[in-house]
Amino acid sequence: MTVIDETAIREDRLLTEPRARGIARILISEQELDGEIAAIAAELDAEYRDDQPLMIGVLTGAVVFMSNLMTAMTIPVQIDFMAISSYGAATRSSGVVRILKDLNEEIEGRRVIVVEDIVDSGLTLQYLLEMLKARQPKDIRVVALLKKDKPDAIDVQVDRVGFQIPDEFVIGYGLDYAGQYRNLPYVAVLDPSVYR
Ligand code: IMP
Repeated sequence: MTVIDETAIREDRLLTEPRARGIARILISEQELDGEIAAIAAELDAEYRDDQPLMIGVLTGAVVFMSNLMTAMTIPVQIDFMAISSYGAATRSSGVVRILKDLNEEIEGRRVIVVEDIVDSGLTLQYLLEMLKARQPKDIRVVALLKKDKPDAIDVQVDRVGFQIPDEFVIGYGLDYAGQYRNLPYVAVLDPSVYR
């Protein structure tokens, strides 16, 4: 896990792109993301070398991480997606979690890797894990690209974190604010004037 410093300011030239309108600064660069994802992929390759795990991506935020993680892995994997309710246009967790799309695959007896974009309060992941465990997979490993440094977060299972970040609202690399910014190739901090 890499710990990201609040004061980091990188690649400001990219902030002039149209897709970067409203961004205060880049928190995690493409190079840092690539490096950490390669490391996670190598660990998963080793852990599952004799298996074919099912990677479950949590829509929609995890799509970029999931895509880059699975293509960085060299073992065969299968993938599936689940959609659960997010915050909508708000930047705080409501604590209300709903299934919007269930898995296509049965997971009983299988080795499952849950791929999450970000763990904030931990509520979403806690709910998801309870539901998945009830289906009796052989085992579950949770990989989260980002985890907020938040003392009051729920103590939920996360086996591998890519980056621990300050408790700020972040966007890019799959993460959105009101449906926007998902196609940024880096993780950035939104200018507060955009959502205040
Ligand atoms: P939690 O239930 O509070 O852990 O939040 C998990 C979900 O909320 C994530 O999967 C994201 O979809 C969303 N989320 C939490 N924090 C952020 C953020 O900083 N930016 C964008 N989405 C976020």
